[in-house]
Amino acid sequence: MTLEPCISTTAVEPPLPIGWFSIARSHELECGAVLPVHAFERDLVLYRSESGLAVVHDAYCPHLGAHLGHGGTVAGESIRCPFHGFRFGTDGNCVEIPYCDEIPERTRLRTWPVCEVNGCVMVWYHPEEAAPGWPVPVIEEFQSDAWTEPRLWEFTAPTHVHNLAENTCDPQHFHYVHQQPETPPSTVTIAEDGRVMQLVSNAQPSSNIPEAADLVATVYNPGLATVRTRFSPGAEMLMYNTSQPVSRKETLSRWALTVTNEIEDTVGDAAMQGIMDGIDDDMKIWRHKIHRDKPAFCKGDSDLVTFRKWVRQFYL
Ligand code: FES
Ligand SMILES: [Fe+2]
Repeated sequence: MTLEPCISTTAVEPPLPIGWFSIARSHELECGAVLPVHAFERDLVLYRSESGLAVVHDAYCPHLGAHLGHGGTVAGESIRCPFHGFRFGTDGNCVEIPYCDEIPERTRLRTWPVCEVNGCVMVWYHPEEAAPGWPVPVIEEFQSDAWTEPRLWEFTAPTHVHNLAENTCDPQHFHYVHQQPETPPSTVTIAEDGRVMQLVSNAQPSSNIPEAADLVATVYNPGLATVRTRFSPGAEMLMYNTSQPVSRKETLSRWALTVTNEIEDTVGDAAMQGIMDGIDDDMKIWRHKIHRDKPAFCKGDSDLVTFRKWVRQFYL
């Protein structure tokens, strides 16, 4: 028998996946506000124009490299660099150099595809800058009077965004990590031309969920998912999760939780607390694990195997 050589903990992380990722909540970005953002292992600048458009560019000015997120100012539908006053339109083209009539052609900022859906500013990431391949799903529960105002929560996980998604399709870990008494049967299916993955399960009480429930987790791309939980008819909970891959080793995860009005008092805060405690359990694993490109899967890991086949499409 040969033993595997000691593995480097930094060399094995997968690249960042293709998809839609959040970089802020919409309410955090007022008209005229400029924010520095670190995502996708890059420095970005996010601002809201006077007309209300959320705009994301690479952070560094093509002139002398000032960071537009630190001192840049909004001027109508453009952002002005704090260093020499170059002004860039929402498409990234330089529209004004205050002390020169001629604008050199390469005076441009990379502009990222952005949309605002479900209360978050979402950015499309593709390593080769291809255009968005699908829309962000609109979550109807957030518009409905039958559901409560969403409770918001976020945390930074010391792990790749891949692992947050993989966790959803890992029914076995609920027993060992989240103290769920036994592993409920679950089915993973792939829908919408292979792009959306869904896990249906009968969850037992655990550190994540306060009581038995039917659970449907839907993953649109790694880092963009909903989990719908139905305790009894009319008593339902929705968790919406978007992620900001800060780097291959760090992910900021944004959550919004809403419940049907009738269980607001009994489930709302308890569910939120349960999820927070559950994530704490996951953190202990994430903080120290490595990525296995070829895991030693066993027969009982069929959901994870399906996940690994599905997730390949998000990597080039
Ligand atoms: S560095 Fe931005 S205008 Fe000079
Ligand atoms: Fe977990």
